[in-house]
Amino acid sequence: MRDPLARQVVGLKPSGIRKFFDLVAEMPDAISLGVGEPDFDTPWHIRDEGIYSLEKGRTFYTSNSGLIELRTEISNYCKRRLGIDYNPREEMLVTVGGSEAIDLALRAMINPGEGEEVLIPQPSYVSYEPCAILAGAKPVIIELKAENEFRLTAAELEEAITDKTKILVLPFPNNPTGAIMEKEDLEAIAPLIEKHDLYVISDEIYSELTYKGDHVSIASLPGMRERTILINGFSKAYAMTGWRLGYACGPKQIIGQMTKIHQFAIMCAPTTSQYAAVDALRNGDGDVAEMREAYNQRRRYLMHAFSEMGMECFEPFGAFYVFPSIRKFGMTSEEFAMELLKEEEVAVVPGTAFGDCGEGFLRISYAYSLENLKIAMERISRFIQKRAK
Ligand SMILES: Cc1ncc(COP(=O)(O)O)c(C=O)c1O
Repeated sequence: MRDPLARQVVGLKPSGIRKFFDLVAEMPDAISLGVGEPDFDTPWHIRDEGIYSLEKGRTFYTSNSGLIELRTEISNYCKRRLGIDYNPREEMLVTVGGSEAIDLALRAMINPGEGEEVLIPQPSYVSYEPCAILAGAKPVIIELKAENEFRLTAAELEEAITDKTKILVLPFPNNPTGAIMEKEDLEAIAPLIEKHDLYVISDEIYSELTYKGDHVSIASLPGMRERTILINGFSKAYAMTGWRLGYACGPKQIIGQMTKIHQFAIMCAPTTSQYAAVDALRNGDGDVAEMREAYNQRRRYLMHAFSEMGMECFEPFGAFYVFPSIRKFGMTSEEFAMELLKEEEVAVVPGTAFGDCGEGFLRISYAYSLENLKIAMERISRFIQKRAK
């Protein structure tokens, strides 16, 4: 029989996060700081709106692009929070999570087999590289540095650009480092994007979770709107991971082609989730602010705990992750994470799950209660004290 499988799929490495989840699942007393989703339930009024839509019998497909009410609210949101005006009828697509939007944007822009390059700063979210490969692009990794607080600098970008570069993935606020790009950081790279005629896929899924001023989107900078596909969603800001809802905003020409793939592959995002999301955008600001404050409190607690125990960690101002360095303990990230799990039953994710340059770091999520974080920090402190002797 002939090989039924596609080489480009078989060649993909499985996600490095899974392995730890599988181990933790068999350890009932373990504390996991591994998961990348909010520990809050979706605010009740949002859930209620989803339930109400079912009661009203709204159980049909929506338009391929998403409910116009939802797109209108997304447009209002982008104006209100980012200062960007998107036309809800032509420049917007509601997707199955930000995940689908990333995949669609790459597939709509890459010509397979032509050697087009996609720049992917790492450490970063696990799906950019495989999606770029599946779209037929050549992923080119830019290694972000702890000494730059894991921001992308103009020099790093310039060095990575070739004649074949077409797209820059901009993953800020960042998973796993918690790094953000402030306005001046974005202003430093924008001229290069324009000069080399690049497009940007800006993954802003954590845009509501910043702890140092408001998030700035690269699409709000002069000349960038027409080159940027802005990706966002409801998973992180509104604690709605299971509702599977996200969106992309950008130039009509690109969104139109993304919509075509979405139409053939998915039809439309879940209808119940879309009704709930309308309410999230209309009435959810207070909930977002409350959750942000809770995350910020935990973030500050972790920074304090790390400094007390002598664990080096740059201060992250975004998302809900910290990315401490474990270099001084003479172990790889994987060894450290594995020993910590076995000895102290605390699960963290090795930095290498987010790219080779994550070696020497751990991703610790603070989407957990302060109570659990405190127990976990005591255990980590005991673990490293033993290594310091
Ligand atoms: C940086 C980043 N982008 C996108 C996603 C996908 O989110 P969703 O598909 O739930 O919207 C995640 C999820 O962890 C993420 O961390």
